[in-house]
Amino acid sequence: MSFLQEVLGHPLTRGLAVDDPRTTLLRHDIIQGKAFLRALYAEWYERICGVLDKKNDVLELGSGAGFLQQFLPGAITSEVFETPGVKLIASACNLPLKAESLDAIVMTDVFHHIPDVGRFLAEAARCVRPGGKLVMIEPWRTAWSEWVYTHLHSEPFSPESGWEIPNTGPLSGANGALPWIVFQRDRALFEARFPQWHINNIEPMMAFTYLLSSGVSMRSFLPGWMYRPVRTIERVMGEKRSAMFALIELELE
Ligand SMILES: C[S@@+](CC[C@H](N)C(=O)[O-])C[C@H]1O[C@@H](n2cnc3c(N)ncnc32)[C@H](O)[C@@H]1O
Repeated sequence: MSFLQEVLGHPLTRGLAVDDPRTTLLRHDIIQGKAFLRALYAEWYERICGVLDKKNDVLELGSGAGFLQQFLPGAITSEVFETPGVKLIASACNLPLKAESLDAIVMTDVFHHIPDVGRFLAEAARCVRPGGKLVMIEPWRTAWSEWVYTHLHSEPFSPESGWEIPNTGPLSGANGALPWIVFQRDRALFEARFPQWHINNIEPMMAFTYLLSSGVSMRSFLPGWMYRPVRTIERVMGEKRSAMFALIELELE
């Protein structure tokens, strides 16, 4: 455990392994108890819902401690393990769904945990109807984010790696650089392997707001009312060049 985690770690999950389903359960309470972080998730969900044309059959992967259902009540929330509030137990690599049964698949902070994203992208293409979407908010690589993810974050961030990540567990197995690797560094390879998926948009976002939220594993710093002013300052300063995340929108041909 790093010094920062030792000192600032949220007391609710201290001592629990990140892959322990109880950590996810407690993170639900942490998010709900941190108004600034809750506002950040609300913005993410609004951004995701904003790019969905059809919202009848939407699957959320790796719902974890999130609350997408408040924004998309009909969404099929899912997880790889049993946890309250999810409707389906499902791994991204083997979706228990019929072909062409979905309008969209959405996720926040999940793609970079999927052990075999090639298999997932094929599964997603099978389950989504033509014209349907795959929309995610994921870590993104910029010079600033690489420094932050390498020095201040516990998850691996490895821009030189391939598409596979160690299958150590649903949360510990990760490469924060994976979305950048697949959709930017290896874009030509992605397009050759998955011509049915068209990248509509990649929008880098959020240079420091997530840091100020202190995330799901640290104590709170800022009150909820500061979210809007902080986001406004971030946008005015220009968030793209130092973005820590990206909104990634794919459409099935
Ligand atoms: C960092 S958490 C994000 C949770 C939630 N979406 C949020 O934004 O708070 C990553 C999530 O991805 C899930 N996950 C990991 N591997 C997965 C897989 N193969 N298929 C679906 N979900 C997976 C984990 O169980 C975990 O809940």
